[in-house]
Parts: sequence; C-alpha cells; structure tokens
Amino acid sequence: MKATAIAPANIALIKYWGKKDEELRLPLNSSISMNLSNCLTTTTVEFSPAYKKDTFFLSDNSKSDKEKNRVFKHLDRIRKLTKISLKAKVVTKNNFPSSSGIASSASGFAALTVAACAAAGLQLPELFYNFSARALKLSKTITEKELTILARIGSGSACRSIPDGFVEWSTGDTSENSYAYSLYPETYWDLRDIILIVSNTEKKIGSSKGMESVWSSPLMQERLKTEDVRLKKMKNALQGKDFSLLGETMEADCLSMHAVMQTQNPPLFYWTKETLEIIKVVYKKRESGLPVFFTIDAGPNVHLFCEGKLEKEVVNKFKSLKGVKSLIINKLAVGARLSEKELF
Ligand code: PMV
Repeated sequence: MKATAIAPANIALIKYWGKKDEELRLPLNSSISMNLSNCLTTTTVEFSPAYKKDTFFLSDNSKSDKEKNRVFKHLDRIRKLTKISLKAKVVTKNNFPSSSGIASSASGFAALTVAACAAAGLQLPELFYNFSARALKLSKTITEKELTILARIGSGSACRSIPDGFVEWSTGDTSENSYAYSLYPETYWDLRDIILIVSNTEKKIGSSKGMESVWSSPLMQERLKTEDVRLKKMKNALQGKDFSLLGETMEADCLSMHAVMQTQNPPLFYWTKETLEIIKVVYKKRESGLPVFFTIDAGPNVHLFCEGKLEKEVVNKFKSLKGVKSLIINKLAVGARLSEKELF
C-alpha cells in the first residue's frame, strides 16, 4: 500500500482569486493554466498497520503544524473514500523553492492526491501509469475528473496540476461539477514560462487566507463582471495559437487580480521593487519589438512568457537584472503521473 506520484506546479493564465464555498473550495470564476515542466513535486505515501499516527516530512524544510494538518485532513478524505483506517507516512520533495509564489500547494496536493489514492488501492486511469512494470487490475477505480475534485478540496489550484498541458478548471456550483480538464496536451505549443526568482522567502499571507477577504475590495465586482470576456479571449488565443492575444489577456488578468489584492482590507501587496522593475523592463522590451509578457501569482516572482524560439534572447535580456537571484525555465508539461522512484 505504497505509491509515489510526481505533479507539476501550474501557472494560471486566467487566475482564480476568491471562493463561493470555503469548505469545498468552489471558485468564484473559472480559470485556465499551464503545467510547468521544471517545477515538480514528488510525493510517496504509504498506508501501513505499522504506523501509529500519520506523519509528514518535506525533505527541504519542515512544515508548520497547520500545513501538516491540511495534509492529514486530506488523507482522511481518501481513507473515507476507500474505507480504510490505516495511518500513513508521507514524504514529499520539491525541486523549486516552496511558498514563494510558485504554487507549491498546487503541485503538492496534486501529487498527494494521486499517490494516496493509488496507495489506498484505487485503480487510476491508464494514463497515470507511465511505467510498464505495474499492470494493476484493481476493482475500485477513480477517474481523472474525480481525482481533480479531490485535489481541489485539498487546495483549489491543485486540481489544475492533474490533467495534461493547458487546463481549464470550470467553476461549477456543486462539488461534482467544479473540476479540471485538459484543453490541449503538452505537445500543443512550444511556449516558455521563465520564472525570475527575486525572493525565496515564505510569504506572510498565503493565498487561502488572502482570498478570504476578496469582497472587501471595491474592485472585485468589476473583476468578476469582466472575467468571462477574458476567459473567452484566452480560449481563442489558445485555439488560434495567437501569442499576442494570449500575452495581452494574461497580463490584463494578472493586473486585475493584483488590483483586487492591493485594494482588499487589509491590503495584500505581494510585489517588491524588483517585481515592479521587471514589469517596466517587460514593457520596454515589448516596445522595442520583443514579444515577451508577464504574469505574477501571490508572491513577488515574475513569470515571463515567450515563444520557444525566443528563449535564449529573453533569458539573456533578463537574467542579469538587479535583484534576479535565479531563474527557472519551463515548457508546457504533462499533469500528474505515478512514478517508480520512491522517496523512502
Ligand atoms: O489554490 P491556491 O490556494 O494555491 O490559490 C491560487 C491562487 C493564485 O495562484 C494566486 C491564482 C491561481 O489561479 O493560481
């Protein structure tokens, strides 16, 4: 009763900010994201009678009790679903800095959901087994849609890290119809998301807490009223592989979300002076003919978007800007998969 899963972080092109149901994590609007090839979480889960209580280890640092409890609560959901009562050991490893605005909770809860469901004896769809050794034929099955619903209850945006490539999470008004699915596979478009890391430190207010007060912003109503238009534009941009439309729509949505954050009470200002400097350089480079766009999550790091053929040029123009500590270059990636490489 042991399984390991690898899941990518995802970056939202159309963002999710605000819930209509806190407990079930039903979002106020639908969102669209891209899975990131170089921001991965690996998680091994084992259920065993040898364990007297649940334990959770993050290999690069230790998690606060509150975060551990979120993991244990998620194990409870999976135990309830599979009617087992065994305690579990969970070990997890990120290949990128946790809690710095790169959604480690997304890849984390996606990997945890997939690994724990497999360890608890559920048969996943064939796509999730990317190795031949394991020809499982279990009687109890779980679909990709159901996996995304479970992951969503653990951490909203985690549902988008399960399907492949570009993913839509449709808002839904019940738990059953708020789920994520692939719009286009990982081979669809040769794009780059280049993350400029300006800070590795943990943010003070995480997204779950931050979005509890969305309605204190006078701009929230306006954001929701215009979200459908941006969502449609983004789908058109993806369908027609229209990079300028993708970039303009992604930037507009990012700025709309940050305007809401910054006008909440208390205000959430995730940008640093380095963030702002990079935004200005993006505008300047675009004026001089380089098609590069930005988006930013709940943190100070900036995600630059360009087409694959411009990767080197964009990296060279941005890597030595003041305050840029390191960068991570991502392509469009598959979603969560089971793996044979166990962490313990
Ligand atoms: O699901 P959470 O709690 O990781 O919230 C994600 C919120 C943003 O990253 C800011 C936007 C998004 O859609 O990913």
